[in-house]
Amino acid sequence: MLKKKFSCVKVDQQKDGITWVIFNRPEKRNAMSPTFHAEMMEIMKSLETDPDTKLVILTGAGTAYSAGQDLKEYFRETDGNNAAKAAAGANSRWRSDVLWMYNKPTIAMINGFCIGGAFTHCICSDFAIAAHDVTFSLSEVNWGILPGGMVSKMMSDTVRPRDAMFYAATGRPFNGKKAAEIGLINFSVAKKDLKRETLKLARELLEKNPNVLRGTKHAIRATQTMSWRAAADYLAAKQAEIKMRDAARGHDSYKEGIRQFIDEKAYRPVFSPYVGASDGKTTEKGGKPRASGARKKKAPARKKSAKRK
Ligand code: COA
Repeated sequence: MLKKKFSCVKVDQQKDGITWVIFNRPEKRNAMSPTFHAEMMEIMKSLETDPDTKLVILTGAGTAYSAGQDLKEYFRETDGNNAAKAAAGANSRWRSDVLWMYNKPTIAMINGFCIGGAFTHCICSDFAIAAHDVTFSLSEVNWGILPGGMVSKMMSDTVRPRDAMFYAATGRPFNGKKAAEIGLINFSVAKKDLKRETLKLARELLEKNPNVLRGTKHAIRATQTMSWRAAADYLAAKQAEIKMRDAARGHDSYKEGIRQFIDEKAYRPVFSPYVGASDGKTTEKGGKPRASGARKKKAPARKKSAKRK
């Protein structure tokens, strides 16, 4: 549990392992100042090893998700002070280096303006969901710089090339629906449904085996820039790492998942994770498969006597 209070960010931890990280400078549209970055670096690093946090949702207070870098405090006030500029830049890497390979799932819930440098943590979160009517903009071209940090690179790696060029070169605002269409976010929903849909995804992720989910996240990220040969080796090594991490909690997801499907007919992998995936418990030795809401709704547990064709 993270007990410390911060001046630019609010941390709200739910009992089920979902932690909300809320950018909290609404009067400045959650623009990112050096203090904000220092706090975010501390928060994200702490939550990564916090036993009470299983998943992180990033969002903004007020009308903005984030208006990007603070033009006054991040840029102008650090001009001529190399140490302060370097520190602000280093701390701002919570959005890129830290988030990109984070050990826990992350969701960006885009509730309002998402501008410039805020594209970084939108893209580096594992998932991004926006309200239909929020405003995205790569405004940099309009106030005098190119989309720096890593924004230009991330945009061209993430969205369709013609859209990367169009929105970077014009700065033209676009909404949540367009952001989904070009692949910048996963999907958009009506504002009234934003929190509910975000939590629905969060809870679905929390049902997975966390070691398998972590390995899967890393696999998708890391193999993007690898050759086929290197990727094959990476994936084999990553699977071995999952086994090792599972063993540390007395579990073997691979064996458990197959056994529950083939021998117990307890679940169907197409519709849900195996029983006990999230908490590492087994149904072996007479333990009864526990029904999960999702399994009950989508696919009833299979009877032991059922024969597959
Ligand atoms: N840096 C510093 N201050 C910012 C800011 C930013 N990126 N974005 C907003 N603010 C401040 C404004 O200066 C204003 O401060 P003030 O009350 O002391 O005058 C306050 O936040 C509210 O901004 P305002 O423009 O009045 O709000 P709005 O709701 O009408 O418009 C935006 C919101 C985001 C469209 C507009 O503020 C904007 O264009 N911001 C710049 C975004 C940008 O270019 N970011 C690039 C970062 S790389």
